[in-house]
Amino acid sequence: MTTPWQSHSQRLPKILLLVLLLSAATPHLILEAAAAEQDEQQPITLVDCPDKCGNLSIPHPFGMKPGCFREGFQVTCNDSFNPPRAYLAYSGVFQRIVEIHDRLEAGGRYHRDKWIKTQAWELMDISVAKGEARTYAPVSSKCNPYSSVYLYKGLQMRLGEKMSPFLVSATRNALIGVGWRVHPMISSDLWSVPTLNATTTWSASSSPDDTSSNEFSLSCLSDLMGKHFLKFATNGSCSGRGCCLAAFPVEFPVPEFSLWFNSDPPNTMFKTNPCSYGMVVESSWYNFSTPDMYGYEVLPNRFPRGVPLVLDFSILNGSCPAKGQHTPLDYACVSGNSYCANRTSGQGYVCKCWDNYDGNPYIANGCQDIDECKLPDLYPCSTHGVCKNKLGGYDCPCKPGMEGDGKNGTCTDKFPVAARGILGGIGVFFLMAAISFLILLRKEKKKTREFYEKNGGHTLEKAKFIKLFEKEKLKPILKSSNFIGKGGFGEVYKGILDDEQVAVKKPISGSVLENEQFANEVIIQSQVIHRNIVRLIGCCLEVDAPILVYEFLSNGSLNDILHGNNKVPLHLGARLSIAAESADGLVYMHSKTNTKILHGDVKPANILLDDKYAPKISDFGISRLIARDKQHTGSIIGDMSYMDPVYLQTGLLTEKSDVYSFGVVILELISRKKATHSDGGSLVNNFLEAYKKEKKATPLFDKEIAVTEDLEILDSLACIAVECLNLDVDQRPWMTDVAERLLIMDRSRKSQFPLHVPV
Ligand SMILES: *[C@@H]1O[C@H](CO)[C@@H](O)[C@H](O)[C@H]1NC(C)=O
Ligand SMILES: *[C@@H]1O[C@H](CO)[C@@H](O)[C@H](O)[C@H]1NC(C)=O
Ligand SMILES: *[C@@H]1O[C@H](CO)[C@@H](O)[C@H](O)[C@H]1NC(C)=O
Ligand SMILES: *[C@@H]1O[C@H](CO)[C@@H](O)[C@H](O)[C@H]1NC(C)=O
Ligand SMILES: *[C@@H]1O[C@H](CO)[C@@H](O)[C@H](O)[C@H]1NC(C)=O
Ligand SMILES: *[C@@H]1O[C@H](CO)[C@@H](O)[C@H](O)[C@H]1NC(C)=O
Ligand SMILES: *[C@@H]1O[C@H](CO)[C@@H](O)[C@H](O)[C@H]1NC(C)=O
Ligand SMILES: *[C@@H]1O[C@H](CO)[C@@H](O)[C@H](O)[C@H]1NC(C)=O
Repeated sequence: MTTPWQSHSQRLPKILLLVLLLSAATPHLILEAAAAEQDEQQPITLVDCPDKCGNLSIPHPFGMKPGCFREGFQVTCNDSFNPPRAYLAYSGVFQRIVEIHDRLEAGGRYHRDKWIKTQAWELMDISVAKGEARTYAPVSSKCNPYSSVYLYKGLQMRLGEKMSPFLVSATRNALIGVGWRVHPMISSDLWSVPTLNATTTWSASSSPDDTSSNEFSLSCLSDLMGKHFLKFATNGSCSGRGCCLAAFPVEFPVPEFSLWFNSDPPNTMFKTNPCSYGMVVESSWYNFSTPDMYGYEVLPNRFPRGVPLVLDFSILNGSCPAKGQHTPLDYACVSGNSYCANRTSGQGYVCKCWDNYDGNPYIANGCQDIDECKLPDLYPCSTHGVCKNKLGGYDCPCKPGMEGDGKNGTCTDKFPVAARGILGGIGVFFLMAAISFLILLRKEKKKTREFYEKNGGHTLEKAKFIKLFEKEKLKPILKSSNFIGKGGFGEVYKGILDDEQVAVKKPISGSVLENEQFANEVIIQSQVIHRNIVRLIGCCLEVDAPILVYEFLSNGSLNDILHGNNKVPLHLGARLSIAAESADGLVYMHSKTNTKILHGDVKPANILLDDKYAPKISDFGISRLIARDKQHTGSIIGDMSYMDPVYLQTGLLTEKSDVYSFGVVILELISRKKATHSDGGSLVNNFLEAYKKEKKATPLFDKEIAVTEDLEILDSLACIAVECLNLDVDQRPWMTDVAERLLIMDRSRKSQFPLHVPV
C-alpha cells in the first residue's frame, strides 16, 4: 500500500528529470506544475498517519492515531459531525461550563440551580510554523432577563493534568468583557469558580503580585452608568464603555484558568441589556459592535461553538541543545532547514523553519523553500523589480536601467527621465553618426576602389617607374597656399612628396579619362626619361579624375619668363638654347620607337624652366587625352593661338601639328610678343606677311636681342619658324630637322660665347 507521500517520493526524481528536460521548453508551465504537485503532496505528518480531520489539517507533532503524535498532542476526530471536528485529547484537557440559575423566591430567598458541563477542547486550526493552535472557547455570560432571575455561565478551562505542552497565548489573547455594566475576571485558581450566590462578592484568592505561586487574576470593567452614557459606546473600541479589554501579563504561563464575574450593583437596564459577557479570546478577532450589548445571550448565540482562543504549544521534556551539544533523544526538530528555539516562558522548546522556508519542522524534509514570488504580499517585490526565487530567499533586482532594491521598493531610474532622454538621444545620435560614418566610409572606400579601377589602377600596378599615391598623402598639398597656377589640364599645386619637390596637377573636376587609355598613357609617360621633358613621378587614381605628380621646376614656364609680370632679361644665347633643347625633347617624344607621343598643345606655358633655365616640356599626351574627352561636349581645348589650322580643320593630330605649334613658340622667343590675336592681327600672321613681302621680319624682333651682329641668327630662327608654320603640312619640316638646325646654331653660338650665363 502506498500513501500519497510514498507515491510522491517515488515520483519525485521523475518530476525532477522532467523539470530538467522540459524547463528549457516551457519553464513557466513546468514550474507551475511542480508547485501544484508540491502544494498537493507536501507531507505534514508522519508516514502512514492521517493528516486530516474533516478539512482540518493535523500536522505532526499532532496526530490522531497512536504513533502519529508526540505525547500531549493527541487529537481525536469526531466523525459524527459534518464536517468532523477535532479535539485535543491530552489527558486533563477540558472546558467546563458552570451554569448557575438563581431565582428569587417568595420570602426574598434565592433558589439556585447549578449544572456543570464538561466538554472537550475543540481545535479550530493548527499552525506548526507559529507554534500555535487555535481552539474554540465558550463565551461566559451573566444574564438578568427578569428582575428576579440571574443566569450565570462561568468557565473552568484546563490544558493538562500536570505539565502541559499547551499554554494560553499571552500575546495573542485578551480578556474581553462586553456589557452595560460588567466586570469579568479570570483567575489561575481553577477551583475558585463560585458556588456562592449572585449577590455575594467574589474575588480571586491571589494576584500576579503574589510571587509565591503562579496564581494571578485579571479583570476589566465596562460600566455605562446610566442611560445617557450609552451613546459613548463606540463600535470597534474596547475602552471600558460597553466593552473592556485586559491583556495578559506577557509570557506568564496560563495552563488553566477560571472565568467568572465580579459582583456588581443590581442591573437597572435588564429590559434592554439583560446580558453581559466575558471571554478569553484572540484579541484581534473580536470587533465590538454596540448591538452585542442588547438582547438575550447575543454573543453565545452568534458563536455557539465558541470564540477563538490561541494556544501556544511546545515540546516538553528537553530543551534546545547548546552549541556542540548532542541533540537530545527524541529531538523534535528533525527537518533540515529548521532550528530549535527555547521557550521563553515555561518549559520545552519549539521548532521553526528557517526564514524563507515553510512547512513542518517536526518531520523530515518538512521545511521547504518558500516561493516568495508567489506571495508578493508577504515578500514584496516592486513592480519595477524582477522577482527571482532562490533557496532560502528571493532576489528582486530592479529591471534593467534601474537601480536600487525591488524588495523595499527603491527601484529608481539610473538616470532621471530627462537625462535618460538626453542620454538616449545622445546615444542614438552617436549611433546614427557612427553608422552614417561607417556607411560613408564604406561608400568612400568603395568609391576610392571604383575610381582606382576606373582609372586603370590594375594596369598601372604593373608599371615600374610610376608611383601610385594614396589620396590622403596628396591632400595636404592640395590647398590654396600651395596653388601655383592653372592650366588647361587643371590646377597646379607645389609640394613635397618623399623629400622631393613636386608639382601636383589636379584636373578640373569633370574632366574624365578613359581608364585603360589613361593608364597606358601614364605608363608611357613614366617611361619617358629625357632631360627636356618634365618627368611624371606618379599619380593618384583614387579620385574621380586622376591627380598627376610631376617633378617641380623652379623657374616656371617660358610664358612667365617672356611675358609674365616679373620678366627677366633673356639674351639670345639663352633663347636659342631653350628653343634647341625644347625641340630635342619634342623629337625624343616623336621618335619613340614603340609609341610615338604627340603633344598637341605645345606653347610657352608648357615649356618649363629649371633652376638653370633648361627647358622641359610638360603636359605631354595627358592634356590631349583630357581635351579629346572634352571634345565630345563641343568645347575647344588647347590654345587657339598655337593650334595648327590643319589640325583644326581635319581634327587629325600629327607630328606636324606639334611642329606648327613649335614654330609659334620660336616666334615668341625672338619677338617676345604673345602669340595671341591683337588689334594688329596675330603674331603669326604678322610674321608670315612680313616674310612674304621682304623675306625678313627684322622690325618684329625683340629690341633686347636684335643687335646687328645677331640679326643673322634671328633671321635663321625666323626662317625655321616660318617653315614650321607652313599651311602645307608636307612643306613643314619634321621635328628632327628643326631640332638639328637649332642645335647646330646653339652649339656654334655656345662656342662663340662659351662662358655666357643664360640670363
Ligand atoms: C462525537 O460527538 C457526539 C455529539 O456531540 C457525541 O455524542 C459522541 O460521543 C462523540 N464521539 C466521540 C468519539 O467523542
Ligand atoms: C470544510 O468542509 C466543509 C464541507 O465538508 C465545507 O463546507 C467547508 O467550506 C470546508 N472548510 C474549509 C475551510 O475548507
Ligand atoms: C446568598 O447570599 C445571601 C447573603 O450572603 C445569603 O443570605 C443567602 O443565604 C445566600 N443564598 C444561597 C443559596 O446560598
Ligand atoms: C455599530 O455598528 C452596527 C452595525 O454593525 C450599527 O448597527 C450600530 O449602530 C453601530 N453603533 C454605533 C455606535 O455606531
Ligand atoms: C472583525 O473585523 C475584521 C476586519 O475588520 C474581520 O476580519 C473579522 O472577521 C471581524 N471579526 C468578527 C468576529 O466579525
Ligand atoms: C517527560 O518525561 C517524563 C519522565 O521523565 C515522562 O513520563 C513523560 O511522558 C515525558 N513527557 C513528554 C511529553 O515527553
Ligand atoms: C536552550 O536552553 C538550554 C537549557 O536552558 C541551553 O543549554 C541552550 O543553550 C538553549 N539553547 C538555545 C538555542 O538558546
Ligand atoms: C533598501 O534595501 C537596500 C539593501 O537591501 C538598503 O541599502 C536600502 O537602504 C534600503 N532602502 C530603504 C528605503 O529601506
